[in-house]
Amino acid sequence: MGIEPSLPQSSPAPARLTDPYLQIEGGYRLSGEVTISGAKNSSLALMAASLLTMEPCRLHNVPKLADIRMMSAILESLGVRVKPVADNTLDIDPRFLSVHRAPYELVNSLRASFFILGPILARLGMARIPLPGGCAIGARPVDLHVRGLQALGAQVRIEHGIVEARARKLRGGRIYLDYPSVGATETIMMAATLAEGETVIENAAQEPEVVDLANFCRSMGAHIRGAGSKTIVISGVLRLHGSEYHVIPDRIETGTFMAAAAITRSTLRIGPVFPEHLAAVIAKLREMGSVVNLVGPGTLEVSPGRVMAATDIETLPFPGFPTDMQAQFMSVLAVSEGTSIISETVFENRLMHVPELNRLGADIRVRSGHAIVRGVLKLSGAPVVATDLRASAALVIAGLAAHGTTTIAGLHHLDRGYESIERKLQALGARIERHLPGAAPSEVSNAVAAGPDAATVAPA
Ligand code: UD1
Repeated sequence: MGIEPSLPQSSPAPARLTDPYLQIEGGYRLSGEVTISGAKNSSLALMAASLLTMEPCRLHNVPKLADIRMMSAILESLGVRVKPVADNTLDIDPRFLSVHRAPYELVNSLRASFFILGPILARLGMARIPLPGGCAIGARPVDLHVRGLQALGAQVRIEHGIVEARARKLRGGRIYLDYPSVGATETIMMAATLAEGETVIENAAQEPEVVDLANFCRSMGAHIRGAGSKTIVISGVLRLHGSEYHVIPDRIETGTFMAAAAITRSTLRIGPVFPEHLAAVIAKLREMGSVVNLVGPGTLEVSPGRVMAATDIETLPFPGFPTDMQAQFMSVLAVSEGTSIISETVFENRLMHVPELNRLGADIRVRSGHAIVRGVLKLSGAPVVATDLRASAALVIAGLAAHGTTTIAGLHHLDRGYESIERKLQALGARIERHLPGAAPSEVSNAVAAGPDAATVAPA
């Protein structure tokens, strides 16, 4: 079988020389316990859902991340008051939601902001939201969101890059999703909570974040059944009330620390977690040789087995192996015994980290959307550039295992999705430091100049 060399698959804008960068001295074991933050993707959807009521909401366990700050700015641009009241608590007062159009500059930099379409339409009868555009990991269309809203009786047209949806009153409908899209399921579910009559979403996404959103909507008085299964039934109500709600732990952050434990052959305790959110990740790690145990309510312990062995991975909608864990597992498989094949089936351009991992000494080739990972004995530190959110986590994990110094530029990706990652890793004994702009050593500058660059838009 002829194999193509692994080339960068897009040419995003270069990382800026003024950006901060991480420096990691790799090859050391980690130990201890790490606290997992609230789920970013849940928090973003819940923030949008709070627009469905005319009463204040309080969200606990919201991670302090760039994406959350961006969503707050978007809500504020609509007349909504967003106020952090404690470390991880946000008060959202949507009483004064009056604007039905979101500014392009803000929506363009955060794809999840498209979630506001359904709630604004349901509350104000009209919404004008710019198309979120393509992004580093794939085209990410919104056709399923649009078809879902049309099935609820909305008139939707897309003109000049703006999705305009109108409906004096949404009516329940039956929607079959061609693909179990997380975003489309969430958009339709939110809009349907205030529609007249019953809505049935078939082939719905079953991700834990969909369930969290349904639970939040229920806590506001919505009638939703079946979230977490393939069929979700929503009976519309006249109005929703305010609510106080606790966001679930971030399963992707958990998986990232599990991968860090595996690659450094360390024992780590990780919590709080819902193990059922991580069934595929736990199964794969065990298959590769790690020992994973539930050691207390909501605490996982990951420790090294005799060897780390190769395994094949195919990314799939939940409960399959998450696309958001693919890059981090690629780092671990890069130093596992044998050859693994990783197939990315969810997003068409999500292997951009391959050339960067190869810079660290990995042996990975890409052929038709599959990465062929030949395990090597060791990685060696080098300057690298993050290409998207989860890719940046993969580079951190690889850097922890690589011998010598790894520098990682393009940290705006990492900061979108990992709260205090270097502080959490330092507490586990990792030698990782963030350097501020202006202090970049020549190798960082060279890596930035060479690319393969950091994308400027929010991928995941
Ligand atoms: C969400 C997550 C993202 C995660 C992804 C998969 C948020 C903010 N983002 O993204 O972090 O990586 O789920 O778990 O929660 N699709 C269409 N038409 C549509 C919508 C989607 O064809 O209208 C396709 C996409 O191109 C993709 C697939 O469906 O191939 C999955 O996308 P989707 O589940 O919608 O992911 P997101 O909600 O964008």
